[in-house]
Order: sequence, then C-alpha cells, then structure tokens
Amino acid sequence: MELRIDRVSKQYKNKLAVDRVSLELHEGVYGLLGENGAGKTSLIRMVCGVLRPSSGSISFDGLDVGDEEYRAVLGYLPQDFGYYPEFSAQDFMYYMASLKGLNKARARARTRELLELVSLSDVAKKKIKTFSGGMKQRLGIAQTLLNDPKLLVLDEPTAGLDPKERIRFRNLISRLGRDRIVLLSTHIVSDVEHIAGTILLMKEGRLLQKGSLEEVTQVIQGKVYELTACAERAEELARSYVVINYRSEGEKVFLRFVCEGQPPEEAAAAPAGLEDLYLYYFSEAKGHE
Ligand SMILES: Nc1ncnc2c1ncn2[C@@H]1O[C@H](COP(=O)(O)OP(=O)(O)O)[C@@H](O)[C@H]1O
Ligand SMILES: [Mg+2]
Repeated sequence: MELRIDRVSKQYKNKLAVDRVSLELHEGVYGLLGENGAGKTSLIRMVCGVLRPSSGSISFDGLDVGDEEYRAVLGYLPQDFGYYPEFSAQDFMYYMASLKGLNKARARARTRELLELVSLSDVAKKKIKTFSGGMKQRLGIAQTLLNDPKLLVLDEPTAGLDPKERIRFRNLISRLGRDRIVLLSTHIVSDVEHIAGTILLMKEGRLLQKGSLEEVTQVIQGKVYELTACAERAEELARSYVVINYRSEGEKVFLRFVCEGQPPEEAAAAPAGLEDLYLYYFSEAKGHE
C-alpha cells in the first residue's frame, strides 16, 4: 500500500499554499501538524481529488488521483463536513451509503457495524441535532468507512472535541491505522503526539519535518531548558530565547525555553517534546528573528 505525493504545489491567485511537497505514505497513522494557514487543507483536498494541484502528481498503488478506482479506495472527512441536523444517525449513514453506491443490504449491514465501531449504536435513531461535537465527529468518521477505504483522510477531525472525546477518538484512529493509511490534519499537538506513528510538520506550504516523535524532536533535543527566576530576570531571558512556557509561581517565574547556544548558568536541561518543537517552529519570536 503506497500513497505517493510527488512535488505537489498549489498556487491560488497570489498565494502559494502548498510548495513542492513530496511524500510516500504506507500503512499507519500520519499526523499532519501545522498552524492555521499552513496549507494542510489544500494538501488534503488535492490528495482527495477535490482540488487540482498546480503542479506535481498524486497516486495510490499506481492509481492516479483522478481515476475512479482511486475514489473507490478513499474515505474523506472534510474540515467543514455538513451534517443533516434533522436526520437520525442511521438515516444519515443510509443516505451516504446510497451516494457511495452501496446496495440496500450492504448499507444496512455496514451501518450497523460502523455505528457499533464508533459507539453510536445506542443513539442510531436519534437526530443528529441532539449530538455533541464528539458524537458528530464519530458519525463523520463512520460515514468515511462505508466503502472500507484503504486510504482514510480526516481534516481537523478533533476540532471541538472535549478531552474525554479526544481520548476516545485517538483509540478509534489507532485501531483504524492498523491496516490502512490514515492521514489526519490538526493544529493540536497532543492529537498527533499520541496517535501518529509519523509526524508531518507543515509550515507556509512546505513540509519541514517528517518522522517519528523521536526523529522530529531530534533537532531541538538538548536545547530545551528550564529555570525559575525573579520576574525581572525572567523577562530579560524571555527576550533572548524562544519561550515554550512562562508561568508565574508566586514571586517567581518558571520559564521553559529553547536555547541554541550557551544556556544561562542557572538553567537545567529538559527532554524535548513535540510541543517544544511546535512552538520552536511556530512561535512569534522565531518568526520575527
Ligand atoms: N480558495 C482559496 N483562494 C485563495 N487562497 C486560499 C484558498 N484556500 C486557502 N487559501 C490560502 O492558502 C493558505 C493555506 O490555507 P489552508 O490550506 O486552508 O491551510 P490550513 O488548512 O493549514 O489552515 C492560507 O493562506 C489560505 O488563506
Ligand atoms: Mg485547514
């Protein structure tokens, strides 16, 4: 199983939203992480064949993104997925199944299986307008699975989920990633930290980093420090380094920051995580350098 993205770019009128992205994806969960405007949705829409690349090519196991067979192996949850509030979960699934060309018997069987998978069996006959954000997202994912896609693409699927729903969602995605390619986008670090085998870090249309959590955080390993200082000293340090965390603790201030050169004497080294990396790449301080 292989999704090939080969030097794909997207130029809107005067905005280069995706800049020569190349990737090869195999079975597993890929977390496309980047701030708003990074180009995630544009890339995803091209992978799903709803937006034409300005240049470059996309294929899955030799099928071109434009082929009908490609669409048959694809499951897609758009960022702005429209639900029908008056539909019940079950009727919505039947409706989506008919759009995807499933026959009645198959639609019923798949709907039962998938509502069970996303833990919505109990509310199958309830109207969608009564659902929480997490329940709607799970229904959105269930409909992407109707055709048992080999390539599952989810654009910001955790937006609006509460912490409990988030954990539930992670477990579901981990399970789905066992025998297919799952590509999900998010601007929330903890989403990918826990479920993505491979992290894809995107900024200003370009792919900055690709790899496991250990691999992508390597660039700042040994450069993350912590210290506690008086407010005045903390302010001074905060102007010189990329601050990851700045927290008042009574009279004192706790500071976590990235330091490329010689750290201040009183600082202690700390292991770097994805949050550190994200802030390192996306913090205001870095952008203004
Ligand atoms: N249809 C469009 N026309 C012009 N510019 C667009 C269009 N869609 C997105 N953009 C711009 O392209 C950039 C990337 O947007 P998008 O792909 O939605 O990023 P993300 O999903 O990471 O937030 C942004 O600067 C956005 O304003
Ligand atoms: Mg987006």
